[in-house]
Parts: sequence; C-alpha cells; structure tokens
Amino acid sequence: MKPDSLIGLSTGRTTGPIHKALAEIYKAHPFDTSRVTFFGLDEVTNVSRDYFGSCYYMLLHEVIEPLDVPMEHYIMPPTTSDDWDAACARFEGALAQCGQVDLQILGIGGNGHIGFNQPGTSFGQTAWTSVMEPWLYERIRKETNSPEGAPLGGVTLGIKNVMQSKRILLAANGTPKAEIIRAAVHGPVTEDVPASILQLHPDCDVYVDAAAGALL
Ligand code: GLP
Repeated sequence: MKPDSLIGLSTGRTTGPIHKALAEIYKAHPFDTSRVTFFGLDEVTNVSRDYFGSCYYMLLHEVIEPLDVPMEHYIMPPTTSDDWDAACARFEGALAQCGQVDLQILGIGGNGHIGFNQPGTSFGQTAWTSVMEPWLYERIRKETNSPEGAPLGGVTLGIKNVMQSKRILLAANGTPKAEIIRAAVHGPVTEDVPASILQLHPDCDVYVDAAAGALL
C-alpha cells in the first residue's frame, strides 16, 4: 500500500515466524520491494555481523534477501564501534534521512523490554547502548566463544524514537508472555514496564495468541 515505506523490524522467536510468513507471501505473490527501506531497531554489541545470532544476520536472511530488498535499503546499527555515542547518532541520522518511520514491529521481553530498553529506561531515551538479560548474555557469549565478562550488550533505538513511529505493531505469543502482556496493556504506564508506554501511542496494535492474551 505504500511501496516506499520505512519499516522497523525486531528479531526473536516471535517475529521470526512473522518474517517467514512475509517471505512466503512475497514468493507466492511478489510485490514491489525496490523502494521499501527496512531497519532493525536493535543489535548485539561486540560480535561479528557474520555471527548467526546478530540481528544483522537474522534480518538479512529472514527478510532482506528473501524479499529482494536492495542492500542500500537495509539500515542496521553496527555490531562493533570504538565510539558508541557517535555510532548511535549516525544510526539515528541514517533513519532521519528516510523520514518518519511508517511502521515499527516489536516483540516484547519477558520483563517488558522493547528493543534493548530494559525496565528502568527513561521514556525520553534516544538511541543508546544498554545491557541484555543475563540468560541472553550467557547464550550469546557461549555461541560466540567470547570470554567471561566480554562486553556484549545491546545497541538500540530508545523508547522516544519508537514512540515517534507513525504506527506500531507489537506481537507476543505463548504463556510465558501472558503476565507481561497484561502489565503492558492494562497496568500503569511506568518505566518499570517499558512496553507500557505504548498505551499512549495513537496507533499501536497488539497482536497476541490465546496463550499470551489469557490475562487480558
Ligand atoms: C530480544 C530483542 C527484542 C525482542 C525480544 C523478544 O531481547 N532485543 O527486540 O523483541 O528479545 O524476543 P522473543 O520474541 O524471542 O521473546
């Protein structure tokens, strides 16, 4: 409907199958992807883009290549940098050049995080480097053979950036997400539950399966 859309993606077990379905639709009924621009809202820091767990790698293989999106229309935060403040500013600048984000697709962490904005992050936060949950840190550390204490974190658009998108789609599935979906949708708007800010967005849809929506 808008071939030159700017669309933000996120990675994970929730959005992966959405990307797969999108690729299947494209294969069966090709549409014009020559002008669409995709970006990922977050990335793991201090790993290689060739690592299969990097957001760059996942989105490249799940969306960009299957949909024949031109590589110059694929915008990602870097995985490595010696100046993260400058890298975050460059990432925001590259997006700003494309205009306002038309659609931001989000998953939600079990603790309510969106992107890598963990509980306690200011709602006024712009792009920055944050931390990841300990279980994810350990998984990525092992998968990348990184030493203990390696500086693996998350570079992410901030909550303020996310809220500036024209439209937001948050998806969640499975029983483990039921409690946080209840808190995000019906609970108080609080920095303790980053996704709760979405209650204040004028055009945000939350898609859940029966299990994740059980407490709504
Ligand atoms: C990660 C990503 C988020 C994602 C979240 C949920 O931390 N940085 O962008 O939304 O996890 O992932 P999943 O859908 O696998 O539960």
